[in-house]
Amino acid sequence: MHIPVLLHQSVDGLNISQGMTIIDGTMGLGGHTKCILEKVGATGKVIAIDQDKKNIAIAETVLKKYEQSLKIVHDNFANIKEILEKNNIKSVNGILLDIGIASTHVDQEDRGFSYTSQGPLDMRMNNEQDIQASDILNTYSQRDIAKILSEYGEEKASWKISKAICEQREIKKFETTFDLTELLESVIKQKHKNKYAQTFQALRIAVNNELDVLSRALEGIMPFLAPGGRIVVISYHSLEDRIVKRFFRKQAEDCICPEQIPRCICSYRSQLKIITKKPITPPDDELTTNPRSRSGKLRIAERTDAPLINREQELIKITS
Ligand SMILES: C[S@@+](CC[C@H](N)C(=O)[O-])C[C@H]1O[C@@H](n2cnc3c(N)ncnc32)[C@H](O)[C@@H]1O
Repeated sequence: MHIPVLLHQSVDGLNISQGMTIIDGTMGLGGHTKCILEKVGATGKVIAIDQDKKNIAIAETVLKKYEQSLKIVHDNFANIKEILEKNNIKSVNGILLDIGIASTHVDQEDRGFSYTSQGPLDMRMNNEQDIQASDILNTYSQRDIAKILSEYGEEKASWKISKAICEQREIKKFETTFDLTELLESVIKQKHKNKYAQTFQALRIAVNNELDVLSRALEGIMPFLAPGGRIVVISYHSLEDRIVKRFFRKQAEDCICPEQIPRCICSYRSQLKIITKKPITPPDDELTTNPRSRSGKLRIAERTDAPLINREQELIKITS
């Protein structure tokens, strides 16, 4: 059964009133979307995005009774600007991103996300996309594989593993999740609990370009967010959480004058107010009913009424 993570904390964090326009950038199976639809009511609008057609098909059934206020879009949330322009939406009151994979991805063996079951080394959330995990393992250079494992999996043995991958693929190409776990078993000798987790996480992030699309979505939503509108993000690993934390902090700065300018001369004012100084994590009762929520971290920020100013252009203006 699918249980939405930090459901009330995140939807309350959107501060929704009837009639608002809200984006759910990661509809998944529609758990959060349903709750948002209830809050915006019949006069409101929800744009629900997902890049996985299979999840969209499930959510469409769950959300059928709300179809008048709901627009479902099959796309990547990184394309938020194009999605809103195409739907003629000029301003929104909030966006929720509950990033990462859904429970269906882990549970469906043929998606290749789980190292505990045998499946093709796929790992695409959008299966219309070209690159799969097996392509990375079978065709990328050793240096590039090591970089992926180290940067996205924080794997200390990245060089050793990538070397073994490149040697192994000369004998037999990687096809299944167990081809990879067998190799990892032979390379990582120490008995740590999650010895496959970092490599699988790294490949998943690389296949779906997860860090880059998150940054693009955060930047992309800013011109559309009405004053008082909220950005609510639930992330599941430190790399994503860091991107959200840094983005919020940067947007919350109230002046961008370089240190050598003693008195503020810039027109830049905080674009966002940070609502959660520290991330909200699932309470004990949620951890008991839904152990998969354990790495969830929720951050919330609110659009101020300061005009949106391009930092780089403003910096050039004040320093030239
Ligand atoms: C953690 S699940 C969301 C679960 C959802 N909140 C619910 O309650 O059912 C993440 C969903 O977002 C989708 N997703 C992840 N990254 C995406 C992206 N960059 N663009 C669009 N959809 C994405 C995944 O396909 C998945 O269905």
